[in-house]
Amino acid sequence: MSAHVSAAHRYPGSAGSSVTTLSGAKISPQTPNANERAGTSRRTFLRSGVAVAGTAAVLGQASAPASSAPARGVFAHGVASGDPLPDRVILWTRVTPTPAATPGSGIGPAADVVWEVARDASFGTVVATGRRTATTDTDFTVKVDAAGLAPDTRYFYRFRVVSGPASGAVSPTGRTRSAPATGADVGSVRFGVVSCSNWEAGYFGAYRHLAGQPDLTAIVHLGDYIYEYETGGYTGKTGPVRTHSPRNETVSLRDYRMRHAQYKTDPDLARLHIMHPWICTWDDHESANDAWSGGAENHQRNEGSWAARKAASERAYYEWMPVRPVVDAGGRHLYRRLRFGTLLELSMLDLRTYRDVQVPATSRKIDDPGRSITGRAQMDWLTRGLVTSDTRWRIVGNPVMITPVLIPPLEPRTTAAVTDLLGVPGAGVPYNPDQWDGYTADRKRLLNTLRANNIDNVVFITGDIHSSWACDIPVDAATYPGSGSVATELVVTSVTSSNIDDILKVPANTLGAAVPPAFMTANHHVRWNDFDAHGYAVLTVTRNATQMDWFFVNEKTDPNTGQTYARSFRVGSGSQRVQPVARPAR
Ligand SMILES: [Fe+2]
Repeated sequence: MSAHVSAAHRYPGSAGSSVTTLSGAKISPQTPNANERAGTSRRTFLRSGVAVAGTAAVLGQASAPASSAPARGVFAHGVASGDPLPDRVILWTRVTPTPAATPGSGIGPAADVVWEVARDASFGTVVATGRRTATTDTDFTVKVDAAGLAPDTRYFYRFRVVSGPASGAVSPTGRTRSAPATGADVGSVRFGVVSCSNWEAGYFGAYRHLAGQPDLTAIVHLGDYIYEYETGGYTGKTGPVRTHSPRNETVSLRDYRMRHAQYKTDPDLARLHIMHPWICTWDDHESANDAWSGGAENHQRNEGSWAARKAASERAYYEWMPVRPVVDAGGRHLYRRLRFGTLLELSMLDLRTYRDVQVPATSRKIDDPGRSITGRAQMDWLTRGLVTSDTRWRIVGNPVMITPVLIPPLEPRTTAAVTDLLGVPGAGVPYNPDQWDGYTADRKRLLNTLRANNIDNVVFITGDIHSSWACDIPVDAATYPGSGSVATELVVTSVTSSNIDDILKVPANTLGAAVPPAFMTANHHVRWNDFDAHGYAVLTVTRNATQMDWFFVNEKTDPNTGQTYARSFRVGSGSQRVQPVARPAR
């Protein structure tokens, strides 16, 4: 099976060495190690017992491109699915019709591609099919909104090239699932939750271990799927563990396409895309650090106009990610809502495109009612959606933290690390103005709406901050817990991006005993936090409770890292409070 599939990914008639430049990128010296690593991690993966009956065929095919040639072949960038609805799901791939048609190159002959959706992995019963032409216009990416599906049903999908030099090539087989019917009485939904996956800061072991979690409904990525920095620009303790492509900071459309393409060659990332539909939003690093509507901290004048750079980053994102943006009178936007029967609605936010510029945390402008993190249209959409929702739970995919956080008094060295991590002035200021803390009027608008309308069971799931948190969101932090909480927030740490021990270049958990208690003393509504670990979380939603389980990788720079179960917090229905529990939901 493996050899057969592997051959199918090569160019018809190509010898092995003649396709070594197909990554579309400058293949780094690390590539052979990555190949070797992929084989090892696949074996680890299969040993872990994930290859359950019915999926073995898919996993076998899925593993083939990663273990044989992560950056080679017609379907070198894998396949992906996303944004499941009851009758449709987005299917994605990228075709490399000739070795020269590398991502971002803008060259190569058009290729006709047939897509197929079936109930079985052997494609005995194809239930939906169609044809697309991949061209330079979309960087040879192919995105299909495959409709006519049955709700709450497992499907398999693949692509076949049917014209041009790559004719006959067949993609790996992906696995996906449609959402339950709108009125379906769904007992349980489980999301894998991830954010902040920086290629140069480590290997994506978190994705590999998340792939081993049972019964996942979908993967929710809360942003920073790619990082824009030049090589060496933002790494871990010991410099880059592998090299960004292109080596320069991404600014142009070509740059962003190449960067997206490189990330898609990671075997752990590719496998997690193959196994589940993803629901993604962007944060700042899909464009540039600390982005706002008119610029970014990491955008300088000599890099051209911000509008052009933002447009290039958006275009590459929509080409390369399995998302279904909403197009309405206000244009195309990424914020959108997905529903899983009567159990939950998931509102995915875009907190970068419409926000006003950040202001210093000491500025009175933080409270200016004219400033917004969401923009008016998105805030109206969000509050209207939360108020009118008829599902049991209202989950908000929230790229940056909404819980108010006061930085506690810390010894100076630690304070510097914390302010560096948060991106606030090193002298020490009370808030992180890049989060909702910097846009307090919008936060008040949102939370007051929830309170005034007695909207319960709102859970924010959040990324961005490279640390783990379980928080009650207080009505008034100063008088909490007496004044109660209006919602809760569960924050997943980074897949690899640096946090305190990385910044200080000290062993993990050196500060573990000191920093979290200080934060919780200064912020009573923060019930738990961890500043050292990397990993992922699993969010299990049932009628009675929403629970997040945090899993940490042991060493992000080890391509074969193990994982450790860390903590769990649970929000009982109607409680608006997080409570620790002793074990994962499943
Ligand atoms: Fe990040």
